Amino acid sequence: MLNIALPKGRLGETVYDIFENAGFPCPSIRESGRKLIFENPDADVRYFWAKPSDVSIYVERGAADIGVVGKDILLEYEPDVYELLDLGVGTCRMAVAAPRGYRDNPQHTLRVATKFARIARNHYAAAGRDIDVIHLNGSIEIAPILGLSDVIVDIVETGTTLRENDLEVIETIVPVSARLIANKSSYAFKTAQIERLTRELAKKEEA
Ligand code: PRP
Repeated sequence: MLNIALPKGRLGETVYDIFENAGFPCPSIRESGRKLIFENPDADVRYFWAKPSDVSIYVERGAADIGVVGKDILLEYEPDVYELLDLGVGTCRMAVAAPRGYRDNPQHTLRVATKFARIARNHYAAAGRDIDVIHLNGSIEIAPILGLSDVIVDIVETGTTLRENDLEVIETIVPVSARLIANKSSYAFKTAQIERLTRELAKKEEA
């Protein structure tokens, strides 16, 4: 049986639809309730919902054979997994944003609030800029408004959150989308099954 970790939430539901259309259905997953693990022995699959940032942990440690995770998580945590496919959903971008009209002073250490410390450090290291990373867990947008940081590094999807908080993108770091990942030893032991799934998902994406 293939163990599949899906990110809990709206993206996860979209991703499950893609898996179902590709021939890996598990109808019980659509039942409402608080259950988190679902299996369909006929299709040889077991799905479970994990917190999006935890999907790569399940896959890296082999508790899941495969999973779906945003590219942002892969860049931030650099898990030791195979990245098999860009699913083309959950598209957004990682960006630097600041209060509207913000003027940078390159002489000063830049205070950056973010959930994505590694992405922020790598981005500014490449530009040779000193930064002070302020690690937050959510609602990043309020940090510069309250004077906790100069800028933020965060996910921007529609841009609504920035707009409604008088912030604007000053730089895009990288585009983000959902990726199919696999545990390395699962890939070695369940090669045929994982390759078939990857092929079917890729076909659906082309269609
Ligand atoms: C993400 C991100 C932004 C928002 C961007 O937050 O951190 O706050 O979505 O989306 P938009 O451009 O469409 O407005 P999420 O909902 O994951 O919550 P959190 O980061 O505050 O935990």
